[in-house]
Amino acid sequence: MKLDRARALLTGAAGGIGREAAQALAARGAGLLLVGRRAEPLEDLARTLGQQFSRSFGALRAGEAPMDIAWLAADITCPEDQARCAEAAEACGVDLLIHNAGLPAFGRFETLDAERLQALMAVNLIAPMQLSLALLPGLRRKPQAAIVAIGSVLGRLGLPGHVAYGASKAGLRGFCEGLRRELADTRVRVQYLGPRAVATGFNSPEAEAHRLASGSRADPPAQVARALVALIERGEAERHLGFPERLAGPINACLPTLLDGPLGRQARSLPA
Ligand SMILES: NC(=O)c1ccc[n+]([C@@H]2O[C@H](COP(=O)([O-])OP(=O)(O)OC[C@H]3O[C@@H](n4cnc5c(N)ncnc54)[C@H](OP(=O)(O)O)[C@@H]3O)[C@@H](O)[C@H]2O)c1
Repeated sequence: MKLDRARALLTGAAGGIGREAAQALAARGAGLLLVGRRAEPLEDLARTLGQQFSRSFGALRAGEAPMDIAWLAADITCPEDQARCAEAAEACGVDLLIHNAGLPAFGRFETLDAERLQALMAVNLIAPMQLSLALLPGLRRKPQAAIVAIGSVLGRLGLPGHVAYGASKAGLRGFCEGLRRELADTRVRVQYLGPRAVATGFNSPEAEAHRLASGSRADPPAQVARALVALIERGEAERHLGFPERLAGPINACLPTLLDGPLGRQARSLPA
């Protein structure tokens, strides 16, 4: 996909990866519709990018022509806000839908409460599916279009401490894979990016301590943004980040029980 002609709706735009992704996309010439729940950081990001790249910026207002870098405060789990996102996408000519908003859930599965589980699945899996459903008619009409999901290495590798989160990302990956094949004869590409841990405010101090104890690395969010741009420009179906995580994924897919021992031992460093 050619990003200089694209207009991306980016959810979770003011988060750690979102800000870097917005920056990288704007640098390639893409127009942006920045989405998140809180208006202030979105407004601030739109202004920063608008000034940096000499592009028009501002809140999206009904009846007015959209700015190059527009923003919309919306909760992607709320049906009314999903409808507002779809209307805004139509008004802005969005041809690239990037599902980046996400919630974490670290800890032993039995410590997770039902409400948190519901919210996790709503943000990480159900809302991306619902937003895709709402935007697909518009995306299908575009000469080039893509739906891109920011998943996780945990979407193809179940790990202690990340049971529910991993399930939400595995669901997201399954959704992307199925939809990609279903839309193979259309102009809409469906793509999935699987980062490993990323140094943003997403992970709690407990999650960070566990990551260090299990010897896995974290990447800077700018690296994830570069991978996202490469994925979109090259039209790849999937891209996974980090080594040995990239290798563990296919091994796990072929011989999952082979990894039960070494990965199961990570449960020992989980908080009680
Ligand atoms: N950081 C990591 O280690 C890591 C690793 C692999 C994958 N990922 C994935 O990368 C994505 C971005 O993560 P991040 O590290 O940038 O996290 P982050 O800094 O916490 O950003 C997440 C963003 O999601 C938005 N969000 C949450 N719930 C929302 C809702 N209901 N409606 C709209 N927006 C919502 C938040 O914005 P508001 O609060 O303004 O709504 C926030 O800006 C997530 O999908 C995450 O699962 C992260």
